[in-house]
Amino acid sequence: MSVTVQTSMERVLDLLSDPPEAPDLSAGYLDLLGPPAKPSLAQSVMESTFLPRIYEKVWRPIGFNMAKGWPFGPDTAAEHALAREWLGLAGRPPATVLDVACGPGNVTRALAEGVSSGGLVVGLDASETMLAQAVDAPAEGTAYVRGDAVHLPFRDGVFDAVCCFGALYLFDDPWTALDGMARVLKPGGRLIILTSRRPSPLPGARLAGELLRRTTGFTVFGDREVTRALDARGLTGVRHRRYPLMQLVGARKP
Ligand SMILES: C[S@@+](CC[C@H](N)C(=O)[O-])C[C@H]1O[C@@H](n2cnc3c(N)ncnc32)[C@H](O)[C@@H]1O
Repeated sequence: MSVTVQTSMERVLDLLSDPPEAPDLSAGYLDLLGPPAKPSLAQSVMESTFLPRIYEKVWRPIGFNMAKGWPFGPDTAAEHALAREWLGLAGRPPATVLDVACGPGNVTRALAEGVSSGGLVVGLDASETMLAQAVDAPAEGTAYVRGDAVHLPFRDGVFDAVCCFGALYLFDDPWTALDGMARVLKPGGRLIILTSRRPSPLPGARLAGELLRRTTGFTVFGDREVTRALDARGLTGVRHRRYPLMQLVGARKP
């Protein structure tokens, strides 16, 4: 393990609410979970060995760009730029950033590009196979944790910014996950979420979404569902961009 990784990892351990006495770093990330629990159908795809290998170069750009309405919606590079902008990373003292459900580290690395030298971007994910890809492409100022996004293992108020892209719809309890994201933000810290969006308010679309959730574990959020949830958690300055099947939501902790 390089000196940079060790230093980043020491900083990560410092952010934890209950740091382990003997941290398991054997896979190149800090493993806070035991053997994988039985995942939903949607999450078991994320834990396969195949998807993580094609995720960043094939699945992510094709699937997400279509859902964002390419060529009218932002492509991957524009999406990353929006994340850095809404999180206010440029031109500020080195930030401590959390990338929730980081997958193979694609967004984690993009965020690290926007953080001043000395900052830290922590990628957290539950999937061993996704994290194996993430640590295979190490980037300055990043570190990875295998943990549960629904029960974030960090202390209150330790992050300047929290990002959660392409994952809220996979969580078995997205609202508890949002509680955690708001909790770990420092006052003045910013949050950005890219998630699913139900394209129609009609009851048929709601019913189809509910059926999808019950059969696969994938949640399709209503148009105002996530923004309202952020309001309800006391976050302010809520921003919202709608795409055909996705939505980008941002807010700040007062
Ligand atoms: C589609 S990938 C998103 C990766 C990246 N954030 C992006 O925008 O491309 C979704 C990730 O969410 C992770 N995930 C799902 N449920 C999780 C949970 N409860 N805790 C941590 N990670 C979770 C999966 O393992 C998967 O890597």
